[in-house]
Amino acid sequence: MASAHTTSYAPLTEDTEADVTVIGGGMAGISTAWELSRTGRRVIVLEADRIAAGVTGYTTAKLTALHTLVYDKLRRTRGGGAALQYAVSQQGAVERVAEVAQELGIECELERFPAYTYVRDPAGTDALRAEADAAREAGLPAAYVTETGLPFEVAGAVRVEDQLLFHPRKYLLALAEDLREHGGEVYERTRATGLHEGAPCRVTTETGATVTSREVVVATHYPVFDRALLFTRLSPRRELVVAAPIEADRDVQGMYITEEEGKRSVRTAPYGTDRRLLVVTGEQFPPGTGDAVARFRRLAEWTERHFPGTDVAYRWAAQDNDSTDTVPLIGPFHPGARHTYVATGFGGWGLSGGALAGRLIAGLISGDPPPWANLYDPRRLWGPVREAPAFLSHQAKVAQHFIGDRLRTTHVDSVDEIPPGTGAVVRIGARRCAVYRDEDGTVQAVSARCTHLGCLVAFNAAETAWECPCHGSRFSTEGTVLNGPALRPLEQLDIGSDV
Ligand SMILES: Cc1cc2nc3c(=O)[nH]c(=O)nc-3n(C[C@H](O)[C@H](O)[C@H](O)COP(=O)(O)OP(=O)(O)OC[C@H]3O[C@@H](n4cnc5c(N)ncnc54)[C@H](O)[C@@H]3O)c2cc1C
Ligand code: FES
Repeated sequence: MASAHTTSYAPLTEDTEADVTVIGGGMAGISTAWELSRTGRRVIVLEADRIAAGVTGYTTAKLTALHTLVYDKLRRTRGGGAALQYAVSQQGAVERVAEVAQELGIECELERFPAYTYVRDPAGTDALRAEADAAREAGLPAAYVTETGLPFEVAGAVRVEDQLLFHPRKYLLALAEDLREHGGEVYERTRATGLHEGAPCRVTTETGATVTSREVVVATHYPVFDRALLFTRLSPRRELVVAAPIEADRDVQGMYITEEEGKRSVRTAPYGTDRRLLVVTGEQFPPGTGDAVARFRRLAEWTERHFPGTDVAYRWAAQDNDSTDTVPLIGPFHPGARHTYVATGFGGWGLSGGALAGRLIAGLISGDPPPWANLYDPRRLWGPVREAPAFLSHQAKVAQHFIGDRLRTTHVDSVDEIPPGTGAVVRIGARRCAVYRDEDGTVQAVSARCTHLGCLVAFNAAETAWECPCHGSRFSTEGTVLNGPALRPLEQLDIGSDV
């Protein structure tokens, strides 16, 4: 966000028509809109805030087909053919970004490096050997190795050659401009608030203007207008990121990930003329749970311990959704959908996944889907439930929050107990209020009931935001929606005379 220009496309203010409406301007939405514009269709992108400033603006931007330990799992659960299709489609997406960047002359810091999944605990090496074997069998240039470019020893690693690092905002902002030059339109600060499926479809927006189009793509990260109840198949996971400048001769020459220690992911990016920016991700947790301040501290300490002499200069957080069977949900929106599509459930790999969604949805709309389309079809989850244990476990957690939160009397007993700079849920009369007290002592109160399905929100002190543990909606202290699936803000409350 600090190293690419900002955008200021106007909101949609008048009713309009298009061939395709794409809702959401992240990696998935802009890639899909751009691919569709190349088929000659007139495409409109509706973005609630600014494009490439959602999860895509706060990602770590490894563009790779090595997704931790996916190949062995796929081989075991869906067969070698599925693992092969996954490898072909994901590596194809990696190369598609390189190809498009070259075709349009986009300077987006593309660099080729190997990608590694590593373990430090010898007990994990069998799983890595199996992964290396499954990835190689699926056609990737994969090997099991014990040497990496990290400044500490590992017990073992899967290494896949020729993967990419890039700057997703620089890439997507250029795609959006090219889309406009080819007759497409981009509207920012235009949240879609309603979807009427039909022939044609109609999308209503918060500005009051509507878009009528034959096809609609929902690329809002967590799907809105979720008729297939996909939210029951997705679990949100928030991750923290810290970044520190390092000397160029300390570069790690690759991209790394481990599931150990609550996950650690490492890459570097260009930084000024003679340094690199070390980017470390980890400490994943369900939104609205635990102490994000302590987690940030742990991640910074890990970084400074493993890369001595570094000073963390940036920190941020974002979240992604895991599907219950690990594979993203990209394709028809629901079992009866004829002209609506969705792209979600990227499980931490939505840069290759978003580029892939562009190719897949453009193929479906053009009547020329790629041969691996069925692997990602969201409707697969409505057959016999292969992923039943993960599904049931997620739903049990949601039920626990839904019922448990309501039974809890209060989170604190009175507004007086809330110190400056923090927030808590307080029962005032019959209501649960989410109350934030700023550093000057001014109190801001909103309803604590998430506007998605009514779970109680919890305060994240590290990011000064209210988070819903059920499906990951996030709200500012004024109640504005920061992340869906919620569409409506938390109701503002005047508790002045009640405090
Ligand atoms: C910390 C972190 C690190 C990651 N690192 C990597 C990585 O190294 N490699 C990788 O491949 N993936 C990575 N991922 C995952 C990847 O960043 C995401 O999967 C991907 O960016 C998701 O793109 P998206 O387009 O689905 O979502 P977004 O980028 O969030 O875009 C969705 C857009 O929809 C808009 N929107 C929402 N609701 C509405 C509405 N009602 N109307 C209009 N617009 C709406 C939002 O404002 C947003 O701009 C990482 C994720 C995290 C959290
Ligand atoms: S996000 Fe679903 S209830 Fe809050």
